Amino acid sequence: MSPRTPLLVANWKMYKTVAESRVWAERFREAALREGLGQGRELVVAPTAPSLWVVATALDGTGVGVAAQNLDLGVEGALTGAVSGYLLRQAGAEWVVLGHSERRQHFGESDQLVAEKVLAAVEAGLEPIVCIGETEEEHRAGKTQERLLQQLSPVVAAAGPERWPGLVIAYEPVWAIGSGRTPTPEVIDEIAGSLRSWLGQQLPGVGAATRILYGGSVNEQNLASFWSLEHIDGALVGGASLDVERFVTMAKTPLGAKEERR
Ligand code: PGA
Repeated sequence: MSPRTPLLVANWKMYKTVAESRVWAERFREAALREGLGQGRELVVAPTAPSLWVVATALDGTGVGVAAQNLDLGVEGALTGAVSGYLLRQAGAEWVVLGHSERRQHFGESDQLVAEKVLAAVEAGLEPIVCIGETEEEHRAGKTQERLLQQLSPVVAAAGPERWPGLVIAYEPVWAIGSGRTPTPEVIDEIAGSLRSWLGQQLPGVGAATRILYGGSVNEQNLASFWSLEHIDGALVGGASLDVERFVTMAKTPLGAKEERR
C-alpha cells in the first residue's frame, strides 16, 4: 500500500452512551464484514473513553481501528481523573485524536501542550491524529497559514524526524466544524499542499509521506469532493458519523482520483 493510505475517521465527541456505542459498533462490524469495508482505505472510530473497550471488542477482527479523543500526560500515578495513553492502549485504542479545537477552546490546551501530548502518544504506542485549524476571525484576517504553522511548529520540534513517521495531521477550520460550511475543495487542497511543502522543509522526507485529513462539516454528500484532492488523504467526520448508516455510506464512497493514483 502507498504510505498515504486513505483514512476516514469518525469522531463522536461527547456523544453516545456505552450501550449506544456498542449498537453502532456491532452494526458497523456487520457492514464491514458483509461489504468488505476498509478495502484500500483505513477506517477509524473515536468513541468516548468509557466506550473504548466495548467498541474495540465489537470491531475486533474487522480491521477497523479505534481512537481515543484525548490523553493526559504521564503513564500512571497519583493523578486523579487523568487517563494516560498507556491506559487508553489497554482499553483498546490504537490511535488518539489530539489538539482538537474543542480541546483547545474549552480545556485551554496550548500548542505546546498538544506537542507534549503527541510525544506521550508516540511513547504509549498510539498513532496521533493532530488537529490544527484557524478560527473564523483568523480566517477573515488572512492569518490561516500563520496560525496553522504556529500550531504545527511545536509538534515538529518535539517529534523530530524519528518520531514523526505515522503522525497524521487533520486540518479542521474551527468555523467549519458543525456549521455546515466548508472552504472550497480548491482552497483546502492549496492549504494542505502548502502544509506539505512546509513539512518537507522542516523534516526532509516527511512532507510527501504525511497523511493530511480535512475535517469540518464532512458528510456523505461532500466526502467525494475531498477524496479527489491531491493533498488530502482522508477526512475526520464529527456529526455525520454518529449515524451508523451514514458512516457506512461514507466508508463506501469511491475514492475517485485517489484510486487511480494508487
Ligand atoms: P463536524 O465535526 O463533522 O461535526 O463538523 C468535525 C470534527 O470536529 O472533528
